[in-house]
Amino acid sequence: MKPNLIFLYINKFYGLFLNKVIIMNKSANKVLVMYFSKTGNTKKLAQMIAKGVKEVNNVECILKSASDVTKDDFISSYGIIAGSPVYFGSMAAELKDVFDRFVSLRKKMGDKIGAAFVTAGDESGGKETTIMSIIQAFLIYGMIIVGDPLDATGHYGVACTGAPDEETSINAIKLGRRVAFLVKKLN
Ligand SMILES: Cc1cc2nc3c(=O)[nH]c(=O)nc-3n(C[C@H](O)[C@H](O)[C@H](O)COP(=O)(O)O)c2cc1C
Repeated sequence: MKPNLIFLYINKFYGLFLNKVIIMNKSANKVLVMYFSKTGNTKKLAQMIAKGVKEVNNVECILKSASDVTKDDFISSYGIIAGSPVYFGSMAAELKDVFDRFVSLRKKMGDKIGAAFVTAGDESGGKETTIMSIIQAFLIYGMIIVGDPLDATGHYGVACTGAPDEETSINAIKLGRRVAFLVKKLN
């Protein structure tokens, strides 16, 4: 075999190897959108947030209800956006159960991105206290917290009373996009 042909083969093999490494790195850009929802409002908001995550190139989105979330989902995701209905001004037990059960993963979650969303029954029913209860859990997991971006409401996260209307849906997409972009930046 001529020397330049050998070089070509080596280059081809190396090129394939590089592609594999690049694909592996891309799969590290994963965002988990997890939620608990009994009557569907929070699920609808979660779906809009997932839509925003999926708009960002090379970021994978996993959308799961709290009971389906696995330890591997936590470990393999570099951003988690968690949502709950407001239950007595705090997150629902079903969502908190995930944080409780996965407590042994805390050391693996440091410096990942966390964000929150909620739906309530009443305007002043405790949306922000509920968002804060989720944020507290993320903080204790050592994560970096972000709210919704300044071109949404620029506050604690995304929240609405009842099912999300058009404006809340747009803000949800923006929060998803923000977390996805940040995950890409940090990876
Ligand atoms: C046990 C329970 C407690 C609730 N507590 C509150 C509350 O403190 N404040 C409020 O605004 N809504 C409260 N709600 C209403 C829900 O937060 C609201 O209907 C929510 O959108 C339901 O979300 P889902 O459709 O995703 O289940 C409560 C509902 C239930 C079932």
